[in-house]
Amino acid sequence: MNIQTAAAARYAKGSVILHWLIALLIALNFVAAWVAEDMPKPEKMQVMGNHKAIGLIVLALTVLRIVWRLMHKPPPLAETLKAWEVALAKVTHAAFYFLMLGIPLAGWAMSSGGSGGKPVGIFGLFAVPALPVGSDKPTVGMFHEMHEIGATLMLVLIAVHVAGALKHRIIDKDRQALLRMTMRP
Ligand code: HEM
Ligand code: HEM
Repeated sequence: MNIQTAAAARYAKGSVILHWLIALLIALNFVAAWVAEDMPKPEKMQVMGNHKAIGLIVLALTVLRIVWRLMHKPPPLAETLKAWEVALAKVTHAAFYFLMLGIPLAGWAMSSGGSGGKPVGIFGLFAVPALPVGSDKPTVGMFHEMHEIGATLMLVLIAVHVAGALKHRIIDKDRQALLRMTMRP
């Protein structure tokens, strides 16, 4: 394979930027939720305020990413991939998009109901209104449950996704696989 063909099989620049920006923000949000758990109330409120803002930014960026994805075809998959690898990648990617929308939406609904309709501040810049959901315990509890189960599922997906990427790089010694989600030098 010459350099020209090798370099051609990459995602569009916008897809690459959105992939890594969203991945970073999701990782930050897991860390924020975990560290907030053991904090005293005022600090916890502060950290969870940032968690909510970051989560809503992930939601907005994901909508943008899905629109972008519909407008930019991904590079064709390597012909050397086995059918099960293609199927697993497709299912994992689709489930990622579902959870990248579902987790923040459930969080937003939980926060809206739990606070009795308080808007979510985005780093003091502006506020996102609450969703019109009930503030009774079962409703808030249901969104909490969805948020938590979604986040747990996402951890499983991240493990599968990263294991897949490393398998191509380390076991199959395929340098191109990871480079697909990078920008041209
Ligand atoms: C929270 C973390 C992450 C999320 C939510 C995520 C999500 C996604 C999604 C949805 C796609 C499919 C893109 C599309 O075709 O529309 C994708 C592709 C990809 N991701 Fe991630 N990702 C994450 C972290 C990572 C990490 C840590 C790595 C590297 C170790 C990685 C490497 C890749 C690569 C190489 C592709 C391209 C797959 C292909 O060749 O088709 N991702 N990711
Ligand atoms: C990238 C998106 C997000 C991820 C990955 C994420 C992940 C998590 C995780 C792992 C927890 C701890 C598990 C639990 O106790 O439920 C949590 C808790 C929480 N999240 Fe999120 N979250 C996201 C977005 C949001 C958004 C957008 C909001 C609200 C606007 C939100 C509000 C909350 C609240 C209020 C809690 C604490 C629940 C409690 O224990 O009382 N999250 N989140």
